[in-house]
Amino acid sequence: MRRKIIIDTDPGQDDAVAILLALASDELELLGITCVAGNVPLSLTAKNARIVCELANRPEIRVFAGCNAPIKRKLVTAEHVHGKTGLDGITLPDPAMPLQDQHAVDFLIETLMREPSGTVTLCPIGPLTNIATAMQRAPEIISRIEQIVLMGGAYFEVGNITPTAEFNIYVDPEAAKIVFDSGAPLVVMPLDVTHKALTTRARVETFRAMPGKVGPAVASWTDFFERFDKEKYGSEGAPLHDPCTIAYLIKPELFSGREINVEIETGSELTLGMTVADWWRVTKRPANALFIGDIDAEGFFALLAERIARL
Ligand code: RIB
Ligand code: CA
Repeated sequence: MRRKIIIDTDPGQDDAVAILLALASDELELLGITCVAGNVPLSLTAKNARIVCELANRPEIRVFAGCNAPIKRKLVTAEHVHGKTGLDGITLPDPAMPLQDQHAVDFLIETLMREPSGTVTLCPIGPLTNIATAMQRAPEIISRIEQIVLMGGAYFEVGNITPTAEFNIYVDPEAAKIVFDSGAPLVVMPLDVTHKALTTRARVETFRAMPGKVGPAVASWTDFFERFDKEKYGSEGAPLHDPCTIAYLIKPELFSGREINVEIETGSELTLGMTVADWWRVTKRPANALFIGDIDAEGFFALLAERIARL
């Protein structure tokens, strides 16, 4: 039985790799891709998601545009990381496949109300605006969500957009608070684990050497995408943040973490968007998330290479 998922995304090169991994994996049935403003504005994330589907020769995938700004704040984007297009690194043709007319939030609600309860997993890999808006508009969907496996937050690794906040949470902290307080089963892939999923020259060359267009595109994207992290962290390569969520669905044994309480800072301008993870359980606050701290990086890249080569 294939696992039904919806990817909510703001492509972004690492989002693109996550989408490709899902499309290459028969364990998963991708019901749709919902796009949100984040790395770049919504018009570009909705375009980029279709570019990725066509690169994988899957023009039948349904792509929906969602919220074009955070719930109550001005949009902050990350062209400094992903480039002006959001998919800098290689020029790919504009998409021919259509965007669905239905709003992404309506698609999320309709799908969760239609599919049997507990059979749809959400994989948010951008700001949580679409997910939170759906929960606010139709709270009855919360108990019907099988699991939310999201990329976002940081604890030991601290922030990548401010000293204390990770980008996806920082862009829409009110949305993140709604999702983290919702009671839906959460698996969180913070920078603590994604910064251990670093590309290396050898790994990138493995993608570049693959036959066809997909592997070389992944190599070109990571060549571009890794500049930011190499400059800032002096790391050898780029953290493939978003694919960690999809890899978890396919091979959860590659990851380890703790069921702990995670709260979102929405009041302080200084620490806005911080995921306050009670890793040492010093409070009595109830656990609301499986907070992932470690990854078998070799196993992760072996899975990624094996799957991408299928496309
Ligand atoms: O902080 C990393 C996250 O922000 C990733 O999802 C990346 O795509 C950007 O959205
Ligand atoms: Ca993303």
